[in-house]
Amino acid sequence: MPEQEKKQKQLVLKVEAQKQQLERLVSKIETQGQQLERLVSKIETQGQYYRHSHELFDQKLDKLARLASVSNFSNYQLFNRRLTKAHCDILEQEWSRKLGIKVTPRSLAYLAHRICTLESAGKGRLAATIEDAVLRVLVASAVKNKKLRVLEIGTLFGVGLAAIYDHTSSRFSSVHLTAIDPFDGYYREGIRDILTDEAVNEPIFRSNLAMAGVPEQDYTLIKSMSTENSSIESATKSLHDVLIIDGDHSYSAVKSDFVNYLPAVREEGYIIFDDYDVPEWPDVKEFVDTIVRDSSDVTLVGVSWRTAVFQVVQKSEETTNSSTN
Ligand SMILES: C[S@@+](CC[C@H](N)C(=O)[O-])C[C@H]1O[C@@H](n2cnc3c(N)ncnc32)[C@H](O)[C@@H]1O
Repeated sequence: MPEQEKKQKQLVLKVEAQKQQLERLVSKIETQGQQLERLVSKIETQGQYYRHSHELFDQKLDKLARLASVSNFSNYQLFNRRLTKAHCDILEQEWSRKLGIKVTPRSLAYLAHRICTLESAGKGRLAATIEDAVLRVLVASAVKNKKLRVLEIGTLFGVGLAAIYDHTSSRFSSVHLTAIDPFDGYYREGIRDILTDEAVNEPIFRSNLAMAGVPEQDYTLIKSMSTENSSIESATKSLHDVLIIDGDHSYSAVKSDFVNYLPAVREEGYIIFDDYDVPEWPDVKEFVDTIVRDSSDVTLVGVSWRTAVFQVVQKSEETTNSSTN
């Protein structure tokens, strides 16, 4: 075979081989293109699915928001409103023993629900976390008396007292609430509530108690500062089973409330300090830890969250003065 012809044949074979390679490449690209198309279609389907799920979720959320009047709550209420399992465990395992009461996770959830419902139905707000509010109510329910008298210093909108009444009125032969608060502004005359911008006044307090089904004869309003002699005189006319100190949180004010109103609490009655151990109000813890814990008039029942609970063991004015001066 002449050299020329041999070269031509080799070239034809080479071209043929390249053609086959090209065909394989094209076929591979086609397969990959198909794979890509399937992938795009899968992504589109998934995208549609996610868009649909998102729409469904939005619809459900809207429906829930329309059904629940409390859906705007978290936008202004800073205090926790969900009683968690951890809260229930502490209440069930520690406080039920300390207070000698029986609770279950369901009864606690119901109590928390009632408190939230009362807050939602009333004006203003409850200035406490749900776990602290539940604990306060349980302390009141633990009183070993047929009749229950509760005295609160610093009442704001009255939701905390309303919650105590709501839970205890069917457990005691009578319940009487006494509220000491100027009911004229948030801590200062004319100042509206810092979170809700609601007015803090007597009509709103009364309407909240009426909403909670508290008859007028079941509560007494002492409309002045706890430091006023007239307030101390009025409150100490009766003995109370529970005293809640939740007014002015400065050291001197908490001290004066403890000293002045201790005589208004009967033996074995409870004294509850709110906002114990919170960075915003260090004076409460300081007074409680340095003075109240050492007082021979009271004994510590327990401390949880923002609440410290004591029980009056002995009534002696002399001891009170010497331990608190
Ligand atoms: C933290 S809020 C009370 C919250 C309320 N106990 C609750 O659970 O929703 C404090 C209230 O105490 C009032 N207050 C402040 N100093 C007081 C005092 N020395 N005597 C009585 N009330 C006082 C304030 O005006 C305010 O209404």
